Amino acid sequence: MENFVFQNTTKIIFGKGTENNVGNEVKKLGKNILLHYGGGSIKETGLYNKVVNSLKEAGLNFIELGGVQPNPRLSLVYEGIELCRENDIDFILAVGGGSVIDSAKAIAAGVPYQGDVWDFYTHRAVVEEALPIGVVLTIAAAGSESSPGSVITKEEGNLKRDCLSDLLRPKFAILNPELTYTLPAYQTACGAADIMAHVLERYFTHTEDVDFTDRMLEAALKTVIKHTPIALDDPENYGARAQIMWAGTVAHGDLLGTGRVQDWASHNIEHELSGFYDVAHGAGLAVVFPAWMKYVYKENLARFAQYAVRVWDVEADFFDLEGLALEGIRRTEEFFSSIGLPVTLEELGIPDDKLELMAEMCTERGPLGNFKKLYKEDVMNIFKLAM
Ligand code: NZQ
Ligand code: ZN
Repeated sequence: MENFVFQNTTKIIFGKGTENNVGNEVKKLGKNILLHYGGGSIKETGLYNKVVNSLKEAGLNFIELGGVQPNPRLSLVYEGIELCRENDIDFILAVGGGSVIDSAKAIAAGVPYQGDVWDFYTHRAVVEEALPIGVVLTIAAAGSESSPGSVITKEEGNLKRDCLSDLLRPKFAILNPELTYTLPAYQTACGAADIMAHVLERYFTHTEDVDFTDRMLEAALKTVIKHTPIALDDPENYGARAQIMWAGTVAHGDLLGTGRVQDWASHNIEHELSGFYDVAHGAGLAVVFPAWMKYVYKENLARFAQYAVRVWDVEADFFDLEGLALEGIRRTEEFFSSIGLPVTLEELGIPDDKLELMAEMCTERGPLGNFKKLYKEDVMNIFKLAM
C-alpha cells in the first residue's frame, strides 16, 4: 500500500426532506448568497421554491444565476464572477448536478483571483483562495458534491479541462434521493456509468496489498450494478435511489482511492469527447472505458480476472486467466448497453474525422494514466477499439 493523507471535509446531510433546511446550513457560512442552478429542472420539480423559501426563512440575502449547461461553460463562469463581485457575494449555493457544482466551484475560485480563472484549468496557477460553496444535489453521478475537482469547457477551442483544489470541496452537500426521482432514464444511466468509472479508475492499479480498498470498490460497483436497473424500472424506488446516491458520493470522495496508484486515462480521453461533441460525460465513459479495458488488460491479467470473478460473478473454473479478464470486460459492456447507454463511438454519434486531433490534445501535456502509460498512438488505438 502507498502512503496517503485522507481528509474529506464535506459535511454530508442525507435523507428525505433534508433540502428544506438548507437555509439554516447556509446561514452558518455566509450572508450574501449566489444561488446557482442549471437549465430549469429545479423549477419544474418544485425544488427551486423549496430552496428559495428556506433561504428566505433563514433571513438570507440572495441573488441567482441559472442557465448552467451540462458540460458547463467558461462564459457563464465569467458572468458569475462579475455578479459575485458586484454584489459582495460571500457564499455560493449550487442546486443541481455535477455541471452546476463545477460551475459554482469555478466562480468561487475566480472571485478572489486577480487573473483569468481559466489559469487554474491550464495549470498556470493554483487556487489559493475561494468562496465557500454548498450543494443541494439532484443527480447521483459526478461526485463533485464532495470532490476537490471542477471541470469546465472553454467554448473557444472546445477545451474541457479540470482543476483540483481542496479549497473547492463543498462545505456541505444535501443528498435527498427523492430529488433524483425526476431524472430522465438516460441521465440515471449516465450517472451510473460515471459512478462506476470513478470506481474503475481507482480499481485498476498495480499497487499491491490493497485488499481493503479493493473490497470497498467492489461493493460500490456491485451496489450500482444491482440498483440501477431497479431505479430505471421504478424511478421512485427510494431504496435503490438512496443506495446509488450514497455510492456515487463515496465513489469519488477520496476514501476508495486511499493507498493506491490510480489511473484516470479514460476520464481524460472522455473529456475530449464531451468537450468537442457536448455528449453526456457518463455516456462517453460507457464508450471509452470498455475500449480502454480491451487495450490494457494484459498489463495485469490477475487484476482483470479478479474484477470478473468478484464484480461480475464469472465462474473461475470455466475460464483461464485471460478468458476471465475478457469475460469481465464483455459483461461491463453488456451492462452499459442493457441500461440504455451507447458503447461505440458510432452509437454515441461521434464521427471519425477528429479522433486524431482529440488524441493529440489529450496527450499534449504528457502520457495519460498509470495502469499503462498512454501516448497519442495508444489513444488512437483505444478509439479504434471503440468504433
Ligand atoms: O440543467 P438542468 O435543467 O438541471 O438538467 C440537468 C441536465 O440536463 C438534468 N438533471 C439533473 N438533475 C435532475 C435533472 N433532470 C431532472 N431531474 C433531476 N433531478 O440532468 C442533466 C445533466 O446534469 P449534469 O449536472 O450535467 O450531470 P452530472 O452530474 O453527470 O455532471 C456532469 C459534469 O460533471 C463533470 C463532467 O465532466 C460533466 O461536465 N464531472 C465532474 C467531476 C468533479 N467535479 O469531480 C468528476 C466527474 O468525473 C466529471 O468529469
Ligand atoms: Zn466522471
